[in-house]
Amino acid sequence: MSTPVMHGTANKTFDIAWVREQFPSLKLQVNGHAAAFLDGPAGTQVPKQVMDAVQNYFVGANANTYGAFLTSRRNDETIRSARAAMADFFNCDSNEVVFGQNMTTITFALARAIGRELKAGDEIVVTTLDHDANVAPWRALEEKGVVIRQVDVREGDCTLDLDDLKRKISAKTKLVAVGYKLAHAAGALMFIDAVHYAPHGLIDVKSLDCDFLVCSPYKFFGPHMGTLYGKRERLEKFNPYKVRPATNTSPECWETGTQVQELIAGIAAAVDYIAELGRRCDPSVKSRREALQTAYRAAHQYETGLLSRLIAGLQTIPGVKMFGITDAKRFDERCATLSFRLGGHHPTEIATFLGERGIFTWDGNFYALNLSQRLDVEQHGGVLRVGLVHYNTADEVDRLLGALREFAAR
Ligand SMILES: Cc1ncc(COP(=O)(O)O)c(C=O)c1O
Repeated sequence: MSTPVMHGTANKTFDIAWVREQFPSLKLQVNGHAAAFLDGPAGTQVPKQVMDAVQNYFVGANANTYGAFLTSRRNDETIRSARAAMADFFNCDSNEVVFGQNMTTITFALARAIGRELKAGDEIVVTTLDHDANVAPWRALEEKGVVIRQVDVREGDCTLDLDDLKRKISAKTKLVAVGYKLAHAAGALMFIDAVHYAPHGLIDVKSLDCDFLVCSPYKFFGPHMGTLYGKRERLEKFNPYKVRPATNTSPECWETGTQVQELIAGIAAAVDYIAELGRRCDPSVKSRREALQTAYRAAHQYETGLLSRLIAGLQTIPGVKMFGITDAKRFDERCATLSFRLGGHHPTEIATFLGERGIFTWDGNFYALNLSQRLDVEQHGGVLRVGLVHYNTADEVDRLLGALREFAAR
């Protein structure tokens, strides 16, 4: 267990000891070592508030929707309050929030619905930087004659080549599918994958002025589900594939079949956990949205401290090649997730060595297939990925660095 650290400015503190107490799984031991969960980008750990919400759903609200009896009414209320929580999370209205199995399934369903309105020769822009779940659903529309244009990355810092983005967008572009933090492209629909961003930064669909944005609660301390923000007029304009008796009213018409309602209860609790963190950082915050904003600000500052420590440490290990921005002055442009290779070692070999010491990291391409191919690491096992979120500690970073040094010296 790491030393509790208080990070803060004059009146805002980040209480890592309190944070870690909320996550029961962080107490796990592996071969006598405390588990270090540096695997967050593939799914974060869950606070007890989320576990309690799922359990309470089963105890008192377990029924299908819109029945004339107590548990069904409670179920409807659970869904209503989860939509309200996600509306605060996205900064939108409740009726612009759609729940689904995961981001991939939601994106395939949305792409099929949008595809109904497209014709041969219409263009969609995707990127080399994105997860394949923001590529393959759009590429599937090639069957209809839709043309897919792919924006390149700048190899030096693995950021999107914005000049190439401008070149690829034309009057024929109907949709641009990108990761978080990109400007609206005039005339085309803007679809944003915020799955990776959501545990690290406050999402604001209003300031992005995007048409659609997706993220997955299991990456931001919630259960295994996906959520979609859709601008109301867009959700109403497109027609999802659905069964005839189900409502035509949005957002429910986008939610095919019975939802995993117990996990929807958990989503609201995940948002409330982040808000609670914000209130602990600054008790004067008023609304849930303000509390979320405060939590993310504090978490970003804390995570950036861990990231700086990690990058500085990796720079002292011979043979480490990092991908992405490593210049501390530009850390606001990136999250605290770092991918690297170590000499000619296969990333699985390193992840296994670390795993035996209780340090959980991921190896491979993480479905960012375009990028893995573009960086020429696909045929060599991809990269090793370390994900730092706000429940990780400086001790864990140091343990990782120590183990990597030991690995490199063998
Ligand atoms: C950036 C990004 N986009 C999309 C996805 C797919 O999300 P889901 O597992 O919810 O389908 C992932 C999952 O790893 C991801 O990291």
